[in-house]
Amino acid sequence: MSEEILKIEHLYKSYEDIPVLEDISLTVKKGETVVIVGPSGCGKSTFLRCINGLEDIQEGHVYLEGAQINPASSESAVNRQKIGMVFQSYDLFPHKTVLENVILAPMKVQKRKKEDATKEALALLDRVGLSARKDSYPRQLSGGQKQRVAIVRALMMHPEVLLFDEVTAALDPEMVREVLDVILDLARNNSTMLIVTHEMAFARAIADRVLFLDGGHIIEDTDPGQFFDSPGTERAKKFLQTFEYENVR
Ligand SMILES: Nc1ncnc2c1ncn2[C@@H]1O[C@H](COP(=O)(O)OP(=O)(O)O)[C@@H](O)[C@H]1O
Ligand SMILES: [Mg+2]
Repeated sequence: MSEEILKIEHLYKSYEDIPVLEDISLTVKKGETVVIVGPSGCGKSTFLRCINGLEDIQEGHVYLEGAQINPASSESAVNRQKIGMVFQSYDLFPHKTVLENVILAPMKVQKRKKEDATKEALALLDRVGLSARKDSYPRQLSGGQKQRVAIVRALMMHPEVLLFDEVTAALDPEMVREVLDVILDLARNNSTMLIVTHEMAFARAIADRVLFLDGGHIIEDTDPGQFFDSPGTERAKKFLQTFEYENVR
């Protein structure tokens, strides 16, 4: 766990002159799981979107394995494929089966043979407990199942880095766990991941490092024990208190 894989240098991002991210620098090592937390609107989603080139940035650079991701260029377009992203909304194609949904991009974008993509897809669907649903359509699946399909779809591209943006935020509580278990399994297998989540127990269990984002800056960058037990800033303390309840009686 020593090799640098992702490097972000002095990133600035604003929307119409309103700054969202100001001078963000970050280095992520191969195999590291970085959890990003912070109040709503602090720029977590924007940060992930800047990393995989979905947003233009005003200043700074993003490098994956030393190659530039941002700003946009033909070189960066190829590199961006090495960054997988899973969102809150799964955006599966409604008229395609689970299997068709997950083999589509590998065949189209990576020009892989159907036979080869299918073989890998079946193995991955099995790994997330969905091999029996390969011929189902998205409407026949629960939210948790759809989100697991979306994770398989991302894994099919063999990403070097995976970004997760509140992937369980829209799920019923009993489905949150089955999706988080898949991500925990990825962490055990040393995937490199940046995870935005409000599931604090999960964050603590999975993180090698926790970033606390507020006011356009990384306010804390520390190990999970330190962050959750004795946050270094008042802002982080206040943020963590919003997840606690006092006994009424
Ligand atoms: N496309 C957009 N155009 C203008 N402002 C945006 C856009 N996307 C996000 N913002 C603003 O940027 C800030 C950060 O948003 P976001 O990254 O979604 O925060 P978070 O994911 O932490 O809740 C918010 O103030 C939001 O209103
Ligand atoms: Mg967000």
